[in-house]
Amino acid sequence: MAINWKLIFKAVCYEIYYYVIGAAAIVEDFMNGHRNKLELVQRPGDVAVITGGARGIGVEVVKNLLKCDMHVIIGCRNTKAGERTIERIRSLGVTSGSAECFTLDMASFKSIKEFAANVTVKHPALHLLINNAGIMFVPFSLTEDGYESHFAVNYLGHCLLTHLLLPQLKVGGHSRGLNARIINVSSSAHVAGNINFKDFNLKEMYVASEAYAQSKLAQLLFTKKLESLLRESDSHVQVHAVHPGVVNTDLFNDTTLKKIFPWVPPLLFKTPAQGAITIMHACLSPLLEGCGGNYLSNSRVIANSPKADNKVTQDKLWDAMRKIVEVHMFGEM
Ligand SMILES: NC(=O)c1ccc[n+]([C@@H]2O[C@H](COP(=O)([O-])OP(=O)(O)OC[C@H]3O[C@@H](n4cnc5c(N)ncnc54)[C@H](OP(=O)(O)O)[C@@H]3O)[C@@H](O)[C@H]2O)c1
Ligand SMILES: *[C@@H]1O[C@H](CO)[C@@H](O)[C@H](O)[C@H]1NC(C)=O
Ligand SMILES: *[C@@H]1O[C@H](CO)[C@@H](O)[C@H](O)[C@H]1NC(C)=O
Ligand SMILES: *[C@@H]1O[C@H](CO)[C@@H](O)[C@H](O)[C@H]1NC(C)=O
Repeated sequence: MAINWKLIFKAVCYEIYYYVIGAAAIVEDFMNGHRNKLELVQRPGDVAVITGGARGIGVEVVKNLLKCDMHVIIGCRNTKAGERTIERIRSLGVTSGSAECFTLDMASFKSIKEFAANVTVKHPALHLLINNAGIMFVPFSLTEDGYESHFAVNYLGHCLLTHLLLPQLKVGGHSRGLNARIINVSSSAHVAGNINFKDFNLKEMYVASEAYAQSKLAQLLFTKKLESLLRESDSHVQVHAVHPGVVNTDLFNDTTLKKIFPWVPPLLFKTPAQGAITIMHACLSPLLEGCGGNYLSNSRVIANSPKADNKVTQDKLWDAMRKIVEVHMFGEM
């Protein structure tokens, strides 16, 4: 078998690029972590939806939403695991709020539609949508809908879900006189991303870290485009993208770093509880009311890669996405 030097070269370049981005992000966490203060607000009766709330950073977000006395809907592949997570949170002494789990596989458009229908039947008004579920550096595979898994789970699936829940978020935002909020858990890795319009699946020359970066840049482009549409229509919904920090979760299980230096993540990375703080800030901060479309890290708005501000790319990806998920009018049935 011929050795594909081009592929190896590309993979090595990405690996180095990630160490640089990761190191910069860790330095940012050290310098600005003190800005991260958890300030919870009581929101009885508000309904929050989170994808991937049974593990990692999501668990800490669920715990905080419950402390705010909200009703939390956890979308997860394994509802048993979700229910165990709720029990664990309760056993820690969090008694306020309420929670339920619905089946959701972000890698399947069909599952996303069923999930959205289940949610909507029970909850015609929603106040928060946290697009948290994500995968990183997984080997090449196509979903049942025919898309590369990073692109499908991290980006396309959340686009479809947001579209399906937007009417209920508009209702929720309108009824409260406070904007409903959509939070996209993106990543500083978006900096390394490029959108490959000729081949979203990157099947020509697949490098997992490139696929992750593409999906996270796509999320950010989406956030910006959606915010501009929401502002045009005065919709009582705003959207934020968040980098939670470099957080020690299972997301890093397959990285060379964790395999060779397993002591590094516990030493240098944030804990999941620390990673949840900026997400909570984006969910709750009164300072952000009416100011969507931005990118937050360590509880403040920071600059994203200029690539995410390119309106031509935003529109082009937006149109491609609508074709793929078969949405004619975004946010309308
Ligand atoms: N950790 C970091 O340093 C870091 C940095 C930047 C951004 N982020 C982002 O933060 C988010 C959460 O990551 P994490 O660190 O908490 O990772 P994690 O511990 O690996 O958790 C990932 C979550 O996503 C869910 N998920 C994955 N594939 C799914 C699918 N097909 N359908 C439904 N749910 C699915 C998982 O559910 P299952 O239990 O069913 O697998 C799990 O709840 C991700 O979007 C990630 O990109 C993390
Ligand atoms: C949601 O809907 C699907 C079918 O539409 C169903 O099979 C599933 O059990 C429902 N409930 C939950 C809790 O996910
Ligand atoms: C980001 O936000 C939009 C909704 O504003 C959503 O449709 C898109 O898929 C989200 N992507 C993620 C998970 O960041
Ligand atoms: C990741 O690694 C930890 C510790 O080695 C293990 O307990 C956990 O089950 C792994 N998670 C995944 C999703 O592979």
